[in-house]
Parts: sequence; C-alpha cells; structure tokens
Amino acid sequence: MCGIVGYLGDREVVPLLIDSLRRLEYRGYDSAGVVVRSNGELKTIKAEGKLDRLAAKLEGCGLVGSYGLGHTRWATHGVPGERNAHPLSDGRGRLALIHNGIIENFLELKTRLRADGWEFASDTDTEVIANLVSSYLDGNLFEAVRKAVADLEGMYAFAVISGESDEAEIVAVRNGPPLVLGLGEGENFLASDPSALLAHTRDVVFLENGDIARLSPKKVAVWSQGETRVERPVVRLNWDPIQAEKGGFKHFMLKEIHDQPQAIQDTFAGRVDFESGSVGFDTLELSSTEIQAVRRIHLLACGTSWHAALVGKFLIEELAGIPVEVDYGSEYRYRRPLVAEGDLAVGISQSGETADTVSAMETARDRGARLLSICNVVGSQTTRMSDGVIYTHAGPEIGVASTKAFTSQLIALYLLALYLRQQVGREMKAELLDDLARLPAAVGEVLTRLDHYDELARRYAEAQDFLYLGRGINYPIALEGALKLKEISYIHAEGYPAGEMKHGPIALIDRHLPVVAIATGRRVFEKMRGNMQEVRARDGIVIALTDRDPEELTSVADEVLQVPRVSELLQPVVNVVPLQLFAYFTAVRRGTDVDQPRNLAKSVTVE
Ligand code: M6R
Repeated sequence: MCGIVGYLGDREVVPLLIDSLRRLEYRGYDSAGVVVRSNGELKTIKAEGKLDRLAAKLEGCGLVGSYGLGHTRWATHGVPGERNAHPLSDGRGRLALIHNGIIENFLELKTRLRADGWEFASDTDTEVIANLVSSYLDGNLFEAVRKAVADLEGMYAFAVISGESDEAEIVAVRNGPPLVLGLGEGENFLASDPSALLAHTRDVVFLENGDIARLSPKKVAVWSQGETRVERPVVRLNWDPIQAEKGGFKHFMLKEIHDQPQAIQDTFAGRVDFESGSVGFDTLELSSTEIQAVRRIHLLACGTSWHAALVGKFLIEELAGIPVEVDYGSEYRYRRPLVAEGDLAVGISQSGETADTVSAMETARDRGARLLSICNVVGSQTTRMSDGVIYTHAGPEIGVASTKAFTSQLIALYLLALYLRQQVGREMKAELLDDLARLPAAVGEVLTRLDHYDELARRYAEAQDFLYLGRGINYPIALEGALKLKEISYIHAEGYPAGEMKHGPIALIDRHLPVVAIATGRRVFEKMRGNMQEVRARDGIVIALTDRDPEELTSVADEVLQVPRVSELLQPVVNVVPLQLFAYFTAVRRGTDVDQPRNLAKSVTVE
C-alpha cells in the first residue's frame, strides 16, 4: 500500500510530484522516489525513509524535466531501503515504473525473465513488472503494458514512463488498488488518491479494475481490460483543499478530532427530517421492498471500522430488530459464511479500499447477499461494488489513526438503524432524532477540556500497559480506546468487555496497571462500578469515564473524567472522544510520530 503520483504538463515537475506525494505519505513512508524524463533520458532519485529525506536530496541537484512519476512506499517485497525504493527501472534502463500492490506470480515471472537474460537489482515484485513490460516493448509503451498485464496475477496499480517514447506519455494500470486521473488544461495527473490532486484540479476520473490508461499532456484515454476504449465519467470533487490541511493544529490527528462536531453534523444533515421524524438517503439505491425483505445483516470491516460495526450491531438489533452478525473482513473470506436470500452485507470502511473488507464483501455478494457500503471516500472500491452507499461526510482523514471517520461511521450506522426501523414499521420516536441533533454540541463540549486530557497523559504516559473496560454498547469503545493508545503511543493496551475481566485479565492487575473504565448510562452503570471496585481491591489504578456527578465514583476511581450525557445509544460517540484525546496527548508526550505511526499505513490495500 504505497502512494503513486504522475504528472505531464508545463509546470516544474519535481516540486509538483513532491507536493502531491506529501498528501499520500499516509499510505506508506518507508522510502520515496521520483523519476523525470529529461532531455530524452530518465533520471531517478530515491531516498530511504520519509519524503523529507528525498526532498533534501533533490534540493540543489537541478533535476528538471517535462514529465514524471513519484512514489512513497510501504514495503511488501524486500526490506525498506533505496535498493527496493520506487521508481524501479527495467534491467536495460528503458523505462521506469511505480507500483502499489502485490504481484502474486512474481517468482514464476522472475524465473522466466531470468531465463531470457533479464537482470534484477532489487528484491521487489515491481521490478518484475518493469522487466516484463520492457520485454514486450517495441516502440509502443501502451501495447507493451497491455501484453505484460495479461501475464500478471494479483492486485496492483502501476504507472510507467519510457525513455524511448517520442512524446510525453504515462501508461497506468489499475487492477485492485485505487488509481485516479486528474484532468487539467494542457496538463494531466494521476494519483492513488484524489487528495493528492485537489490543489491542482477537481475534475477526476476513477479508473475501474482492469483499466489501462494512456495519458499525454492534452489527453487521457482509457481501455477496459486493455481492449475496449471506454469513457469513464469525469467526477467533480467538492472537497476543499484547505480541508486537507492541518488548519493550524500541530497534527492532523488533533485537527481531525476537532473536526468531529462538524463531521457528525455533515453526516446526518440532509438525511434527517426533524419535523416529520424520518430518515432518508439519496444514494441507498435499495428499494423499500428490498429493505423490507432483509432478514439478516452482515457487517464487514477491519480495525476501527470493525469497532464501529460492533456498535452498529447494538444499534440495528435494538432499533430495527433485525439480527446482525459482525465479522472481520480478514476472517469472513476464509470461513464459509452462511448467507441466505434476503441477507444484506454492509462493508464499513473509511477508505473504501481495505483489501480484506473488499474481499469479504465479494464473498458475501458471491453467496447471494445484496451489498451496501458505508464509506468516506467518494468513488472508492467498496462504493463502486455495492448496490447502495451511505457516505460518511467526514472530509479527508489524513492521520493514520482514525478519529472523525469512526464517529461519522457511528452516525451513519445510527441513521441506517433508524431507516430500517422505519421500513419495518416500528414507531419513530421523536427523541431518537432529537438526541442526534444535540450530539455535535456534546462532542464540542468534550473538546473544551483539552488540558484535562493532557494532564492525565502527563501522569500516565510512562505506564507500560493499559486495560480498557466497557460493557454493552460501550464495550467496542473500550476496544477502540485501547487501539488508539497502542497505535500511536506504542503502549500495550487491551480492550475488554468488563464482565469478562474476572475470566482472565484480572490476573494482570497490580499497582502499575491503569484501567480505563467506561461507566456511562443506566443499564450497566452499577455493574461497571462493581468492576472498578474489583480493580481497586487489587491495587490497580482506575480512570473512570462517566456522564454522572464525579462524586458518585470517587470512592472507586483514582481519576474521574466527566463527559456530557446523551442517549445511551449515542453515548459511544461522545465517550470515544476523551479516549482519542488521551491517546493523542500520551503519544505527544512520548514523542512518537502521531500522524504516521511506525509500521502502519492509512489504507491497507494488501491482504
Ligand atoms: O479504511 P478502513 O476503515 O477500511 O481501514 C480499516 C483499518 O485499517 C483502520 O481502521 C485502522 O485500524 C486504523 N489505523 C485505526 O485507527
């Protein structure tokens, strides 16, 4: 899961490529590189590590050219390092290629190419594509790519330029990972993600799987399966480039945490009629009859989106009375899930490109389910494969740790649950919508207490382990709190349903272990208080999160964080925000790379 960009036009190509790559660094940052065509030659500069190292290397080296490609890498084949960094050339120096994805039959192809005399200088599968294309290159780059693609197995997107082309041209292929073309006046672009293009153009073309595109400065042309010339629709993006900037915050994550009141509101705006008490979607594309026929729902997701799915199960079962199963995308495809007629599979994904989620959705579809996608990225893979889409309107999420996408997913799931409730003829109570309207303000209130969370982080930033406990609809929030802490601060943290503590994790408790306990609402409050007592009785440190008077918990907790009270079904949206902030301030105090934590990437487009 790497980031790829390309440009042809009159502008200075190197600064443009670097600027675009900066917006894709969330996709990987093990190494970076650019290639430009300059005076008929291909010139490549690469550097190990983050983009700044490449930018420093490029300074003063006078690399200029008429068009080029750039890449930021998340290593799959071959260790991170310059040798395996992209762009990669073929063994005869005729072309340069950037790639995102995995070529599954690369060893077989490498053996074949070696036998034909091709040499390899890296450990990557990318170099196999470069040599393969070169082996077919006979004056026509597009034709060579088309032949090479017929030999490739796997999921990949790549772009290639040749030192032998008479005119400026880039040939790009999409078969799995995303690839989008940006259209300009006398210039054209390509990138893994539209956020890399927003500063330059808003008119984009999303390539479909199997598409091969040929770009020149004045024209883009696309062939489906490399055979049939097709006109893919031009989509005008309404994302404001400023939305994608840090907006004065030190980190994208902190900005995105602060975006949440707006993102929540944007996600329910236009879908809720507060006067008539109803919910509707413009892009659901499933008829009332189809919705009424839904007998069971499969929620499929990974990571933070999977935590949203767990909350979704509570919401849909309680509000609409439809049974819900929740699966990890990575597990669903490897079991034999029972899918019956009338089942609806809902893929939940910020990026819409997570390979495991996409595959799970394919599995559900192949077994007869209708598909729905809850997604933040317009035109992404999950949205295009689905019968209907509910977009979360969180805006671009750049921080690797998901925050506003998560709370927006919870809102989308709440709306879906209410919509299903309507369709199955259950009564729509006014308070179900009124609580929604109060939510942005409640989250905003949490954000006025930053010093609180920073102070808490100061006290516990040196802890080695954390336990997060929650019950009922807040059990997934305990999981999400623990995930946020571990992914950005690198502190080991476990989330657990509080009632399960006595079946094992209780053995961990001693005076060094902080336990974050979510004790909001009425249904399980007393049970949670009991769990806190159990921790205190074993000398553990209790950090309680509550919507009650803190006095009610001072006898069982060392620290009490108060949050605004909303309805029990929406309380998870408020509860997760202090946990995001605590993780953020802890990571800042520990000096980690908050927006691009080690070993992670924003979209995981490999299995
Ligand atoms: O784009 P997706 O929502 O499909 O991504 C799923 C996970 O990779 C993602 O939520 C991941 O767990 C985040 N790093 C969590 O902060």
